[in-house]
Amino acid sequence: METTKKSEKELLLEFEEKINGEQKIEPLDWMPEEYRQHLIRQISQHAHSEVIGMQPEGNWITRAPSLKSKKVLLAKIQDEGGHGLYLYSAAETLGVTRDQFIQWLHEGKSKYASVFNYAALTWADMGAIGWLVDGAAITNQVSLQRTSYGPYSRAMVRICKEESFHQRQGYKIMQNMMEGTKDQQEMAQDALNRWWWPALMMFGPHDGDSPRTNLAMKWKIKRETNDQLREKFINKTIPQAELIGLKVPDSNLELLTDGTYKHSDINWDEFWQVVNGNGPCNQQRLAHHIKVHNDGAWVRESAMLTSLIEE
Ligand code: 3HC
Repeated sequence: METTKKSEKELLLEFEEKINGEQKIEPLDWMPEEYRQHLIRQISQHAHSEVIGMQPEGNWITRAPSLKSKKVLLAKIQDEGGHGLYLYSAAETLGVTRDQFIQWLHEGKSKYASVFNYAALTWADMGAIGWLVDGAAITNQVSLQRTSYGPYSRAMVRICKEESFHQRQGYKIMQNMMEGTKDQQEMAQDALNRWWWPALMMFGPHDGDSPRTNLAMKWKIKRETNDQLREKFINKTIPQAELIGLKVPDSNLELLTDGTYKHSDINWDEFWQVVNGNGPCNQQRLAHHIKVHNDGAWVRESAMLTSLIEE
């Protein structure tokens, strides 16, 4: 018994030496169960976010104001589906099947980014989502490129290359509208008003309120904390808004001498309401995912059959 206990300790020591030596942890390496479970949760929920995030934007493909904007939106949404697949593949290396991840999502045991539980009401929302939601995701994902788990890090490198196009196309929509008619300017400002705070919520709870931040930082799953990333996003996005004449919906904003902004805090009651399933679109998003997953069962079955026939 003593030998097994000792080797567990030695294994943990070796694991932490790898982490501290900036060596990636790979699927077949020994890892603490807590590390594995943290990654299973975080990567699968990240994957769910990519796929569910296709819904609010998908509703605007047929309403895009031009063929060009329709093509750009289609390309972006297709990218998101691919991001979901990279991330499910990375999560599967931890010993859980994709079917299991989907089942946990459908049972409400697994979450996705709360931001997608808000409705996309106008075309300007496509701009606000690309600029703010993808912009926040980039801030988080650029940092996650250095995560200690190999498959997650490599998925992030690939995803970040495409995410910057998403943010740019969103900002371009907002810029065009701000150069347009008064109605278009008001539509863009309305979209910023509705999406600013849900985008800040994407970075999760305050560091002190997050039960997982310490372990995520200790084992380098995260390289920067939720609050550090949120502040980074706020400080770079406010000047972008002001550059095109938009006003961030926070009456307490104050530019400090060090170039950062003093700002109001998030409405954490709203945050937990939406995270816990009581947001404007939670039911609709999940019901749609379940319906489409079931409707697509025949595609998965025929793909499986084809692969069996080809063997
Ligand atoms: N939305 C939904 N749920 C959230 C959340 C959010 N913004 N923030 C926290 N939660 C949930 C957590 O999942 C956890 O629930 P669980 O125990 O059932 O899993 C609970 O609230 C407590 O939160 P934690 O303290 O554990 O949260 P973390 O400190 O882990 O931070 C996180 C949450 C910021 C989402 C973190 O997990 C993370 O950085 N994940 C990787 C990045 C990610 O998932 N990004 C999704 C962005 S959307 C996207 O990329 C699509 C693109 O196309 C825009």
